[in-house]
Amino acid sequence: MKRVVFDRCGPPADVLRVEDDVPAPQPRRGEVLVRMLASPVNPSDLMYIAGQYGLKPVLPATPGFEGVGIVEAHGGGLLGWLRRGRRVAVINDRVGNWAEYTVTQARQVLPVPDELSDEQAATFFVNPATALAMTQKVLRIPRGAWLVQSAAGGELGKMVIRLGAKYAFRTINIVRRREHVEELKKLGADQVIVASEGSIAQQVRRMVPEGVRYALDAVGGSVGSEVVACLGEGGRCLVYGSLADEPIAVHPRALIGNTLRVEGFWLARWARTQSILTMLRLFRQVASLMREGVLQSQFAAVYPLEQVQQAVTHAAQPGKGGKVLLKIGDR
Ligand SMILES: NC(=O)c1ccc[n+]([C@@H]2O[C@H](COP(=O)([O-])OP(=O)(O)OC[C@H]3O[C@@H](n4cnc5c(N)ncnc54)[C@H](OP(=O)(O)O)[C@@H]3O)[C@@H](O)[C@H]2O)c1
Repeated sequence: MKRVVFDRCGPPADVLRVEDDVPAPQPRRGEVLVRMLASPVNPSDLMYIAGQYGLKPVLPATPGFEGVGIVEAHGGGLLGWLRRGRRVAVINDRVGNWAEYTVTQARQVLPVPDELSDEQAATFFVNPATALAMTQKVLRIPRGAWLVQSAAGGELGKMVIRLGAKYAFRTINIVRRREHVEELKKLGADQVIVASEGSIAQQVRRMVPEGVRYALDAVGGSVGSEVVACLGEGGRCLVYGSLADEPIAVHPRALIGNTLRVEGFWLARWARTQSILTMLRLFRQVASLMREGVLQSQFAAVYPLEQVQQAVTHAAQPGKGGKVLLKIGDR
């Protein structure tokens, strides 16, 4: 089979290569063998390859944390047997999904509804579950409340906007390019702010003078610092990305005086603290919101596995306008 590998961490386009004729992995007890159909290039994949992610690769390694495929075999166990032949969304933090075949725990694959395309099914976990968990399970944003979010023009940011329209919380969305303003308003954004066009905190205070109770930041640096400065009394900010790769500055008096909370959120770690029932309910809700279009992704381009260098280069480009997908096999 073919697979993508890297022998050292570094810039993804420099360190990735395609191996052409390697044996398919063998599933152990409790695992399934999945024939991969497609897998997105997410920011977390790029950080993992660069050695900047919370999870460090055991080298040589194959990237690809999520995707969609068909369960071809299992290594023993009831769940693997039940999943045989099914089209499944695949989470993989051990072997990697950018390969024609991969193995993962049977409990890390989830059958996906027939009506979802392979493209949508490939992006079933990472962004949809994060957007839903942060807004509905962790912050539990009430109807009518204001949320400020950075990276609003990205795929996860757009899901948060559509969740706001669905569950009636109001969103102030920070983008770095003006082209996003109209697009996000059409999705249901209440307000859109372009980061380079004046102080974010001042613009937000003009809209909500007392400051907002809820915030999400995926950028950090000066944008993240301004997002925190938008919080009012009892405000809470979840930091879930580090796109600018720079620290957030918070004045201690703002934290103390307003009893603010600035917390990290990582889906993988949060999921481990939830019961199986909670996670099953969450995924059922993700499936239903994907069918409605609320948690769907847009795609900028599709590349075959052999063109992985072009795919990762494209995925890192500003203003790419959607997910970059690796198409690996056919149904
Ligand atoms: N913690 C978790 O569990 C978790 C789970 C899922 C995702 N995430 C994180 O969520 C973030 C968004 O993911 P995504 O899939 O939505 O990515 P995406 O579709 O690539 O979107 C990223 C967005 O961020 C903007 N952006 C990128 N670098 C920026 C910078 N330096 N300053 C300001 N804006 C910047 C981009 O702007 P342009 O459109 O102008 O290029 C784009 O709109 C990533 O950091 C990812 O790692 C975290």
